Amino acid sequence: MLELANKRVLLGVSGSIAAYKSAELVRLLCKQGAQVRVVMTATATEFIQPLTFQALSGNVVYSAWDDADRGDGMGHIELARWADVIVIAPASADFLARLRQGMAGDLLTTLCLASDGTIAVAPAMNRLMWENAATKENLAVLKQRGIHILGPGTGGQACGEVGLGRMLEPEQLARDIPTLFSTGILSGTKLLLTAGPTREPIDAMRFLSNRSSGKMGYALAQAAIEAGADVTLISGPVALPSPSRAKRLNVNSADEMYDAVMSEVAANDVFISAAAVADYRPANPSKEKVKRKDDNVDLALTQNRDIVASVAALPNKPFTVGFAAETSDVEVHARGKLERKGLDLIAANQVGEGQGAEVDDNAMTMYWADGSQHLEKTTKNKLARQMVAIIGEHYRAES
Ligand SMILES: Cc1cc2nc3c(=O)[nH]c(=O)nc-3n(C[C@H](O)[C@H](O)[C@H](O)COP(=O)(O)O)c2cc1C
Repeated sequence: MLELANKRVLLGVSGSIAAYKSAELVRLLCKQGAQVRVVMTATATEFIQPLTFQALSGNVVYSAWDDADRGDGMGHIELARWADVIVIAPASADFLARLRQGMAGDLLTTLCLASDGTIAVAPAMNRLMWENAATKENLAVLKQRGIHILGPGTGGQACGEVGLGRMLEPEQLARDIPTLFSTGILSGTKLLLTAGPTREPIDAMRFLSNRSSGKMGYALAQAAIEAGADVTLISGPVALPSPSRAKRLNVNSADEMYDAVMSEVAANDVFISAAAVADYRPANPSKEKVKRKDDNVDLALTQNRDIVASVAALPNKPFTVGFAAETSDVEVHARGKLERKGLDLIAANQVGEGQGAEVDDNAMTMYWADGSQHLEKTTKNKLARQMVAIIGEHYRAES
C-alpha cells in the first residue's frame, strides 16, 4: 500500500547545510505515491541547485515570486491551495522566526501564511542556535498554532559540534509525513462513483432530466481522493471541473451510465451511487425534432435499469453505498431502499424547498443495517469528508 497515494506534498527548503538531504526526501516521498512540488528560499538555492529537485520531483521548482505566477499574480495562492500538506525541511532558524512573525516577504513564507491546511517544519541548525531562547520561544508559538514540529535529531553537526539540532534523516521524515494526514482511511482502495443528473432523450433536441448539480458527488470524489482512494467518476452532464486526480467518464442517459458502471465495477472495492439517475425514460425517443401539433401529446415512459441494485446484486459486489433523496418520511424510505436493494450503507436527505439539489450546503443521515448517524448541515465539501470517514470505517470493518 502506497502511504502517500494521491497526496500532494509541498516541500519547502530553506537555507541550511541540511538542504542536500531533502533531495533524498523528495525521492522517498515520490516512492510512496506523493506528488511533490518544491519551493526553495533564495538562500536554499545557494546550497543546492533547483535542478536536482526538479529532476527528482518531476515538477518545476519555485523560488522567486515569478516562478509561481500564472499571469494573474495569484500563483502563490494557487500553490497553497494545491498542497494537501506543506512541509519545510530543512527549516532554518531564520525561517522559523519569520513564520512565527507571520512575515510574507518571500514565496515560501507567503505560501505558509496563505494556507489553512497542515504545515510541518523540520528544524535544522547548530546546537546553540537551537537552544537559544529566541528559537525556543518561536517553536513554542508555532506549536501552539498547530504547526507540527518534526525533530530535530541529535548527533554530529556540520559545524563540528555535537548535540540537538540536526534535521531528522530523510527516511524518518518520510515515515512521519504520512502521519500528518488525518484521513487515509481509503488508502489503496479503488472507488467507483456516479454523480450528476441523467438526460433521457425525448427527441433530437429535448430530454427529461432533474435538478441534480453533481456538487455532492464531486465533493465525495474529492474527499475520497484525499482519503487515499483511486477514484473513477462516472458523471452525468454537469458544469463542474473534474477533480484533478480522478479518472472521469462522461455519460448522458441512465442507460449509458448503467453500461459504464457495469464495465468498470469489477475493478473496484467501493461503489457510491451519488448520481440522480432517472427512473424512467421516454419509450420511443424520436431521432427528429418533434413538431408542434394542435392537440396534446402523451409521453409514454419505460423503466430504466436500476444501477445501484444491479451492482449490489453482483456475486462479487463492492461495498455499495446508495443515496435516498426524499421529500417526506426520509428514514422509512431510506431504510426500505437499503434493505430492498441490498446496500451496505445509504445516505439520505430531505430534498425540495431549497434543500438537497442545486444548493451548496446540505445535511445528511447515513443509515446501515443496525445503526445511523446524522450529519449536521454544512458545506457539501465538509459533509463529503464526514461521509467518506463513515464509508471508510464501515468498509474497513467488513473487508
Ligand atoms: C554554510 C552555511 C550553513 C548554514 N546552515 C544553517 C543551518 O543549518 N541552520 C540555520 O538555521 N541556518 C544556517 N545558516 C544560516 C542561514 O542560511 C541564514 O540564516 C539564511 O538567512 C536563512 O535564509 P532562509 O531561511 O530564507 O533560507 C547557514 C549559513 C551558511 C553560510
